[in-house]
Amino acid sequence: MDDDGQIETSLAEIQSFFDSAPPLKDREGIITKVQDFIHKNSSSSGIGKAARVVCVTSGGTTVPLEQRCVRYIDNFSSGRRGAASTEYFLEAGYSVIFLYRSGTCQPYCSTLPDDPFLNCFDASDDTAIQVHPSFAKEVKRAIKENRAAVLGGRLLKLSFTTIFEYLQMLQLIATSMNTLGPSAMFYLAAAVSDFYVPWETMNVHKIQSGSGPLDISLAQVPKMISALRREWAPLTFCISFKLETDSKILLEKARRALKKNKVHLVVANELSTRKEEVIVVAENEEIVVRRNQSKAEAEVERPLVALLVDRHSAYIKHSGS
Ligand code: PMT
Repeated sequence: MDDDGQIETSLAEIQSFFDSAPPLKDREGIITKVQDFIHKNSSSSGIGKAARVVCVTSGGTTVPLEQRCVRYIDNFSSGRRGAASTEYFLEAGYSVIFLYRSGTCQPYCSTLPDDPFLNCFDASDDTAIQVHPSFAKEVKRAIKENRAAVLGGRLLKLSFTTIFEYLQMLQLIATSMNTLGPSAMFYLAAAVSDFYVPWETMNVHKIQSGSGPLDISLAQVPKMISALRREWAPLTFCISFKLETDSKILLEKARRALKKNKVHLVVANELSTRKEEVIVVAENEEIVVRRNQSKAEAEVERPLVALLVDRHSAYIKHSGS
């Protein structure tokens, strides 16, 4: 049984999940983008220096209830953690594959208003649209930093919506990143569905409400993290997250996830305090990481990423690459 009481995931179950999933749109195009990104970053890192590439996953996966989807079940995640962490990894010299849920937070945009985004702009003189002076600095920074990272070939953004898309993309990124060995890292902050409706048993058309209460049976999504560690990218440095709403069970579950999934670190967080503090659980220690409360704009991701970069350096050194 795993940390959530599931029976241990077998590779056959994982294969059967993929076999029955709807094919990923533009699969070949995505493979080409990922391979080109990895190739460019590994060849530009210099002789004897391994390129550090991290895959940051961010946002929640959806579970469609209909093949021509009108309704779906969602996993909560604003994508703030993943977006902020991406900025700090880039600052630390990493190249980042940002695998994010479409419509969630983007790197360098956290200080822009999202409700509504149009508050940033002014169109009062009828001739030209201007950035509102109170947001000018933030808009300039978002455009500049984002463009520099993407055009400079250090940030590759790939979006998903459903659990089927997310897991297929994660698999193809992982198998490509394994070629980088220990200098590659996974930072799995996305909130991933545990239950889903198998594609072949799903209604094709919109479920009709006239037939009375809805009774749906959900199958369990195999825990893909074990496949990532054992099969797809066993050489890489892997960090998973554990989210709970009950602080009393959080640490115990994080410790069990560390052991069972054989990841290098688990970042434990509680929903209501996740922006203030996290606990990094390792084999022999547990480190509380807090944001600097004396600065309003300080984010917990800054010290968190700094700690993970240190641990990753030690892992690379230990692996002899
Ligand atoms: O986005 P924000 O609003 O900033 O919030 C950030 C966050 C709270 C979403 C983030 O910090 C976080 O905790 N993300 C992980 C949430 C989650 O899915 O936790 P879990 O306990 O259900 O899963 C634990 C691990 O198992 C995850 O790393 C996940 O990648 C993995 N998993 C989950 C389901 C599944 N079928 N297969 C998996 O491998």
